[in-house]
Amino acid sequence: SLGDYKHYMEKEIFEQPAALENSMRGRFSEDGSTANFGGLNLTAAELRQVDRIVFLGCGTAWHACLVTEHLIERYARLPVEVEYASEFRYRNTPLDRNTLFFVLSQSGETIDTLGALREAKRKGYKVLAINNTVGSSIARESDGGIYQHVGPEIGVASTKAFTSQILIGAMLALYIARMRDMSYNDGLAYAQAIKSVPDLVRRVLETQAAHIRDIAKRYAHYQDMLFLGRLSLFPIALEGALKLKEISYIHAEGYPAAEMKHGPIALVSEKCPAVFFAPKGEIFNKLVSSIQEIKARKGKTIVITTEGCEFPPGVADEIIHLPDCHEAVLPVIATIPVQLLSYHIALERGCDVDKPRNLAKSVTVE
Ligand code: F6R
Repeated sequence: SLGDYKHYMEKEIFEQPAALENSMRGRFSEDGSTANFGGLNLTAAELRQVDRIVFLGCGTAWHACLVTEHLIERYARLPVEVEYASEFRYRNTPLDRNTLFFVLSQSGETIDTLGALREAKRKGYKVLAINNTVGSSIARESDGGIYQHVGPEIGVASTKAFTSQILIGAMLALYIARMRDMSYNDGLAYAQAIKSVPDLVRRVLETQAAHIRDIAKRYAHYQDMLFLGRLSLFPIALEGALKLKEISYIHAEGYPAAEMKHGPIALVSEKCPAVFFAPKGEIFNKLVSSIQEIKARKGKTIVITTEGCEFPPGVADEIIHLPDCHEAVLPVIATIPVQLLSYHIALERGCDVDKPRNLAKSVTVE
């Protein structure tokens, strides 16, 4: 039931600290330096033979695949490819002998993802699943995998299922990294960062939710919006744009911030604001210059950054703060503000956030 919440989407956003706790429960090694997954049906020795992982999914789950790709390549240095499940099933992708597959699906019933799983299995590959629905078709037909354990997701726009998938992706990256070349101490710090996620998410919800509701009131009348991010936050830019499209019917696009100059910047004017992910880090100054490019073309900017980061005057029209955190958990933390932003903009526009037009919760037709 909804309890004190007005919509399932709101409830599912606010229950993320508990949901994420459930996704990680019992999944750390006793020494605290790595993750453990009971259901992979793959020994560490077998996993060490894998020289490429292919991740498949649709929609939001495909965005979770992109985050996981970034984390596994960054920390475990293992090549990863991501494909839309719908494309993979008909594309006849060339594959290496030691390729492992993961399909990501909240419902476990998405027909394109199931079709891709079946095609990989027909070719004789092992397919694991990250899935939220025990007993679903994908759970039954895969060779093993990781249940998300976040409880049923009712809102059509995915929220807690997405953050749980990227949290599990981060844990998978840790697990593979530790069996390759991550040190014990780096593993400890990484695992500790994962364990702090529920608290960090709670902090964003507590300190930023009302502020984001106010921002939403000022931006709900726009017809177009850009979402820009780099590295592990590029997929979060895609996810922010998808959320906004789905529930508020505002046209939105996600781009890696540095791609703007190769075309999309032509769209920017006082009529097209941009949501920018600009956390602290090595490329912070590059991000600031990209924001300035938008401002120079009169675009309003909503900047999502780390507490303590400073911007030159006039660069950020709105600032949303994230707590400082380990890079591996940043995508989870950075998702919360864009969920809240799309939720409140949709409400301002009088949209039915739980049942957006033209969409079904699980897409069981091609
Ligand atoms: C977006 C959304 C969809 C689903 C997609 C895959 O908010 O919910 O894009 O992510 O249809 O669904 P699952 O994960 O059930 O395979």
